[in-house]
Amino acid sequence: MTIASDTFDWTDVASSWDEHRHHIETMKAKLTHDLTAGLAIRPGEHVLELGAGTGELALRLGEQVGPTGSVLATDVAPGMVELLRRTLTGTANIRVAQIDARRIDLPDGSFDIVVFRMGLMLVAEPEQVLQECHRVLRSGGRLGVACWAGPQHNPWLTSVGMAAMMHGLVSGGPPTGPGGPFSLADPIKLQRLIRDSGFADVAVREVETEASFTDTDEHFDTVISLASPLAAALAAAPESTRVAVRKTAAQLIDAHRTADGLTVPGRALVGIARL
Ligand SMILES: C[S@@+](CC[C@H](N)C(=O)[O-])C[C@H]1O[C@@H](n2cnc3c(N)ncnc32)[C@H](O)[C@@H]1O
Repeated sequence: MTIASDTFDWTDVASSWDEHRHHIETMKAKLTHDLTAGLAIRPGEHVLELGAGTGELALRLGEQVGPTGSVLATDVAPGMVELLRRTLTGTANIRVAQIDARRIDLPDGSFDIVVFRMGLMLVAEPEQVLQECHRVLRSGGRLGVACWAGPQHNPWLTSVGMAAMMHGLVSGGPPTGPGGPFSLADPIKLQRLIRDSGFADVAVREVETEASFTDTDEHFDTVISLASPLAAALAAAPESTRVAVRKTAAQLIDAHRTADGLTVPGRALVGIARL
């Protein structure tokens, strides 16, 4: 199995994303701050969020645009759309829709801001997504994306991915190819990709992340339950392989052990641009 998330329906892991939503937001706190600060969102603006997952970011965006603005929180996976509906019920200025970022079924120039946090790199055709973002933004509108930086900077994920690879569950090296979590990990290339899609003032910066776990088992269980492609590969494996993968992942992540458990670093890229 080669990891290209584009072929996976994240519905399978929606309940895990629900369960771990606070952990996810804690890990992404700094990059989320930089993403929303870079977009300089104003009350009354209209925001489209793609691949919105749990809806936690949509809630924050809804507060920033206020009652005169709006947020359309969307995802392609039916299970994530259901999760969005549950999270966002009762928020007057936030609506939910199922939308594939590659084919946004909405009129030209209908948003002030488009946000895609930790999803653009999972689509095998990011150029197509960026062209669609460009099309639905009004003149002067802003784009904000966040992607993972390279595998060497993200041991929280690569430790589990490498363990799965070492035991033959996945193949092809770190998932840097189209649709893989590290496919847009080069800041210069990400900047060029956004610029070549017609955006101006493109700025891409690196942001550090940090995730804490009580022990290696919690780290393994959390990552596996959230990473849709890895979850699918592990679920299909015999018990003996699952045990071996867990043990290897624990050895690989052990370098990040602290007195309280594990504190594992990560790095993301935050890209901001305007039309
Ligand atoms: C890694 S999760 C990130 C979720 C959320 N944005 C966050 O940062 O917590 C990736 C999300 O992108 C969604 N996704 C993947 N491909 C997509 C596509 N073509 N169009 C829209 N959403 C997509 C998945 O369903 C999933 O919810």
